[in-house]
Amino acid sequence: MKSKILVVANWKMNPGTYDEAETLSKESELLAKKNKNLAVVLCLPYTWLTDLSHKGSKVVSFGAQDSAVADKGAYTGEISAKMLYHSRVKHVILGHSERRALGETEALIAQKVQVAVKAGLKVILCVGEKERDAHGEFLTFLRQQIVNSLAKLPKKYLSKLILAYEPVWAIGQAEKDSMKPSDIHEASLFIRKVLIDLYGKDGFTVPILYGGAVGPDNASQIILTGEVQGLLVGHVSLNPKKFGDLLASIN
Ligand code: PGA
Repeated sequence: MKSKILVVANWKMNPGTYDEAETLSKESELLAKKNKNLAVVLCLPYTWLTDLSHKGSKVVSFGAQDSAVADKGAYTGEISAKMLYHSRVKHVILGHSERRALGETEALIAQKVQVAVKAGLKVILCVGEKERDAHGEFLTFLRQQIVNSLAKLPKKYLSKLILAYEPVWAIGQAEKDSMKPSDIHEASLFIRKVLIDLYGKDGFTVPILYGGAVGPDNASQIILTGEVQGLLVGHVSLNPKKFGDLLASIN
């Protein structure tokens, strides 16, 4: 059976109040219910996450936007993957460029990935270049970023891995300034090759998502031409009308 197209909504540090978060979560669940060919994951800020994951139906999965390098202990301010797992949270985004920009290193991200998969979470590992150059050096950068962030993750955890390709320059932009679907295809082939170099034929099993200025007008072309298995959607996931149109366009 073909797997469902995965749509991960990254709410980032939004919305500002519990009531808004509850409304948005309910609306997103209704949209997911209408689009049964998709698997929808809502990644919320911690404050709203665990309450809404307990109230939420099985129509969507819930995810966090980060998790700690250890299961428990003296890590003031941190939340562990194990705690999330026991709060009906199934996914976690790790290595998002906005966290890398705050100082997260590849070594730290690699450690978080290992801890999170061992805790039972599915990791959405984000990679992507800051800029492109005509000589293709960004590809060397991309390969290194994947290799370093995975840091020899054992094969047995591959079923817990989802790779999200997010060129940093496209994030937060208007749809017209997103990456061209043909370029996304090239990038997804390259990432698949890196995964196969690392894991042999098991590298085929890891879903590759695209993220960065995805909306209702470009989502279906990105899936079709880009040959990715899903999308990571930021600002459009905060707008139920646009998010609904996006889901319907790829359902
Ligand atoms: P965007 O964000 O859809 O707003 O570009 C995507 C992301 O940062 O995950």
